[in-house]
Amino acid sequence: MNVYDGWRIAAMLEHRGMTRTENVSDADIIILNTCAVRAKATDKVFSALGRIRRAKKSSALMGIVGCVARESGADAFRRVPDLNFVLGPQSYHKLPEILENPDAKLLNIDLSGLEKFDSLPQMVKSPTVTYIPIQEGCNHCCTYCIVPYTRGREISRKFDDCIRDTIHAAKTGAIEICFLGQNVNGYKYTDENGHTYRLSDLIQAAAKIPEIMRIRFTSSYPTEMTDDLIEMFKTEPKLLPFLNMPIQSGAPDVLQRMNRPYDLDQYIGIINKLRNARSDIQISSDFIVGFPGETDSDFEQTVNIAKQIGYINSYCFKYSPRPHTAAALMPNQIPESIKSARLATLDATLNEIQRDFNESCIGKTLSCLYEGPDKTGRHLVYRTPYMQQCIVSRPDNDTMIPALAKIEITAANKASLRGKFVE
Ligand code: 5AD
Ligand code: SF4
Repeated sequence: MNVYDGWRIAAMLEHRGMTRTENVSDADIIILNTCAVRAKATDKVFSALGRIRRAKKSSALMGIVGCVARESGADAFRRVPDLNFVLGPQSYHKLPEILENPDAKLLNIDLSGLEKFDSLPQMVKSPTVTYIPIQEGCNHCCTYCIVPYTRGREISRKFDDCIRDTIHAAKTGAIEICFLGQNVNGYKYTDENGHTYRLSDLIQAAAKIPEIMRIRFTSSYPTEMTDDLIEMFKTEPKLLPFLNMPIQSGAPDVLQRMNRPYDLDQYIGIINKLRNARSDIQISSDFIVGFPGETDSDFEQTVNIAKQIGYINSYCFKYSPRPHTAAALMPNQIPESIKSARLATLDATLNEIQRDFNESCIGKTLSCLYEGPDKTGRHLVYRTPYMQQCIVSRPDNDTMIPALAKIEITAANKASLRGKFVE
């Protein structure tokens, strides 16, 4: 979602005749698009602001947008007096106001709903993988998570607006689209005639657009994985066989304290339905280790479920207490040293599963989407349907680089695959 917001902000400024610079001392405006999900990310914002204020031109405008802006509010101006603007994740479309009135201190952390989506100019050229936000905010209120506070309650965009944006993306260069939302499979929009649209309707409509060859969505909440959506994996070949559906923990007690009211049988039941719908589907998850009160045996259950489900492409994080969340006030907070040890153990398990999966791809031919040249320029980077990076040799003639290619996988390690073009 932050990557998407960053694109829209850049497009909005480009539309006003500004151009990008990688060099802080050249910039007329410096915008930090921020994440507040863990304390480390927030701390980084303020240390970066310290560096930037020393390097920037004195006339340059500097500010923060996104979740840290919403979390800190006016306090950010007290911490960094030279800040010019602080705009929350739903008010960054107000950014031009600071260009018109550079001497003001612009503060807006309202949760203004969907206003931003409709007041921003469309992008002239869309990336091959384009994000289409369909839903913002979250009603789940997991006890560790600051997102319901920073991004607000769940709200779904109009079906027609989502499809209009998808068609625009397709006509301007997109080959893959990724429907986005904090709780994307909770998408629900009822039009003026009382017709309700779900994510499965969006997938079917997007699949009819000829330029769109691959469709995915992120991030899904387990109990909102309804049968109509699961069915899409069976009936819609453009939907990639890869799903991010975080479990967070494998211990029932911890899940209960996290306010994630599903039990493991229910979660595994959903995975089984998905595998019945599409046998080659792979699942990824996020995990939090060191949640308040997590015992060694709770943690062991998390490692076990990771192995049992065989998650690929997953992330694990040390629990980070956040303001405005219930878990920050819970007893039995776990010491940092234990969190670090558990993180290392789970990371090693997830890496091992990833390596095994990558190696199991050797000899297979996968349909992969071109991403760009690698750092050396001698190779090309493609993405498999499972979001693995696949490296191929660069052909002599760049006009022969296909956007979507059949690639035979010839080698693999934990981080990436190697392959060769089949046709
Ligand atoms: N501490 C650690 N990780 C967190 N996440 C969300 N809140 C926290 C927190 N307070 C993780 C969850 C979520 C991912 C985006 O970030 O695993 O799925
Ligand atoms: Fe946060 Fe996701 Fe839980 Fe919503 S479902 S509160 S975004 S972790």
